[in-house]
Amino acid sequence: MKSIVISMATMLLLFSCKEGKKESDTVQSDKPNYEEIGMRYAQETQKVLGKNLKGTIQDKGVAEAVVFCNERAYPLTDSMAIQYDARIKRVSDKTRNPLNKANATELAHINTFKKQIAAGDSIVPIVQEKDGQVHFYYPIVTNALCLNCHGTPNQNITPEVVEHLSELYPEDEATGYGIDEVRGIWSIVFEASDPSK
Ligand code: HEC
Repeated sequence: MKSIVISMATMLLLFSCKEGKKESDTVQSDKPNYEEIGMRYAQETQKVLGKNLKGTIQDKGVAEAVVFCNERAYPLTDSMAIQYDARIKRVSDKTRNPLNKANATELAHINTFKKQIAAGDSIVPIVQEKDGQVHFYYPIVTNALCLNCHGTPNQNITPEVVEHLSELYPEDEATGYGIDEVRGIWSIVFEASDPSK
């Protein structure tokens, strides 16, 4: 009886090892889905920024939320970048903070996304591999909430908020937007994983 139990246990063990090996084989041969990874980084960062922005607007109003964006947008984005071991940037062709200016490659992608959105096409992230790194780009599109600070001054943006913005951002170009417009893009860089590992 004892030996039967033991041999059954051995068989089970052998069987499970075989199963395990099979699974890891398929995982190894599959290239990671960089599009999915980039989307997750962009969406999670957007979620953190959006939640904090909405909370601040509800608790303290739009004018105070400008101060929040000024002080917290960078540290929050950077903390997500550290969490994911990636470089995460929000860049634009018309910036509020000049540090967020898009480079030539990013500008080209902004124009591609603008055309796609204007044509009503479905939006697919742009993913490029270069020197062992993955470059991921995805548009940041406006909704009604954004117009409180990125819409037309004195129409969507109250005079009080206009004043706050012009004090903090003398070179502000990021107004005049309507909804469903490309406000900028996520520009994310992370390591391509080594398929031999
Ligand atoms: C309460 C005001 C406020 C609201 C509402 C707001 N923003 Fe902003 N936004 C700012 C400020 C202030 C900055 C500059 C942040 C900084 O200094 O890093 C900014 C910067 C940005 C940037 C980075 C590029 C740049 O111009 O510097 C993007 C992209 C952006 N906002 C998109 C949005 C979108 C999309 C929405 C709506 C979902 C939105 N914002 C809503 C105030 C706001």
